[in-house]
Amino acid sequence: MFSSKIIGVGHYVPENIVTNKDLEKLMDTSDKWIQDRTGIKERRFHSHEKGSTAKMGVKAAKIAMERAGVTNNDIDAIVFATLSSDYYFPGSGVLVQHQLKMGTKPAIDIRAQCSGFIYSLSVADQFIKTGMYKRILVIGADTQNIALDLTTRGRDMGVLFGDGAGAAVLERTEDNKKGILSTHLYTQGEFADLLCIREPGSGHDRIIYPDMHKNYLNIHPQMNGKFVFKNAVMRMPEAIKQALKTNNLKVTDIDMLLTHQANLRISQVVQKFLRLPNEKVYNNIQKYGNTTSATIPILLSELWEQGKIKEGQLYAMAAFGSGFTWASALIRW
Ligand code: ACO
Repeated sequence: MFSSKIIGVGHYVPENIVTNKDLEKLMDTSDKWIQDRTGIKERRFHSHEKGSTAKMGVKAAKIAMERAGVTNNDIDAIVFATLSSDYYFPGSGVLVQHQLKMGTKPAIDIRAQCSGFIYSLSVADQFIKTGMYKRILVIGADTQNIALDLTTRGRDMGVLFGDGAGAAVLERTEDNKKGILSTHLYTQGEFADLLCIREPGSGHDRIIYPDMHKNYLNIHPQMNGKFVFKNAVMRMPEAIKQALKTNNLKVTDIDMLLTHQANLRISQVVQKFLRLPNEKVYNNIQKYGNTTSATIPILLSELWEQGKIKEGQLYAMAAFGSGFTWASALIRW
């Protein structure tokens, strides 16, 4: 039986920094409100001339491959997570596959929003465990800025998100005490409408129709923030505890907790529920806002750059988001 381990991680965020003060000019909000309620100080927005979800994904993937010491020829498949594909169809995975010059190697798109990276990690892990593939590029990338309603009407969502991408190279190992120890995935589709963008979608006469822009509740992200908050702080610790139980491990065995970066207050409540000290938790939402499927690999990549990822350490990861979907992963580095 094979296992899979991460051998390289990378990330990319656009250069354009948008501070809370910049948002104050667009809507009735304040730096204080945003920092008090979410912890966010600034985020990155890319311009469509310079970037797209796929292009950001390619940049992150190249860094991950370089750090892993592999080239595009060594990769057997791509698993790409996003909710903001470049095209309505096909998904951005195929665009990345082309831009990385990967011949006819397969690209699979995963739509699990903020949980997308852990879902993708799980899919890649299964392919490696079965022996079908040896090395897989897992990417999470999202462009949120173009869908946000950056006026007072959309301020509850408008201040939360940023753009970015993160990637990891997964490789087969025969040492099954190392690498991805487990992944746990969950979905509760009954709450799909509580965090979504409804249009363009297939439940309408036409994808684009006259006066569509007037239907702002459907074309911008909508969320029941309090309900999402309550579920996020309950589900992420639950998923981590399940992962620990599956592996006969305890919370005190965790060396580093990485939670999806949706709101610093959510991450702090999860940390409190798990009773983990600050030195065992890493957050970066202050700099990037919620980068959706990119948040977990960006966290990993920053820790890699800081030289903080050490052989033998136990990493616990959890994400929660639209769907609702949530997930956890336990990794022994
Ligand atoms: N600036 C100033 N005031 C604001 C803003 C803003 N940006 N947004 C909302 N307000 C106002 C509201 O209108 C409200 O005013 P009122 O009391 O006069 O009605 C007041 O602030 C309080 O609003 P709440 O919605 O109650 O604020 P809350 O403390 O719940 O924080 C937040 C809102 C930050 C959105 C929070 O609910 C949250 O983080 N929810 C979870 C987000 C999340 O996890 N998303 C999942 C991932 S996203 C994905 O998967 C795509």
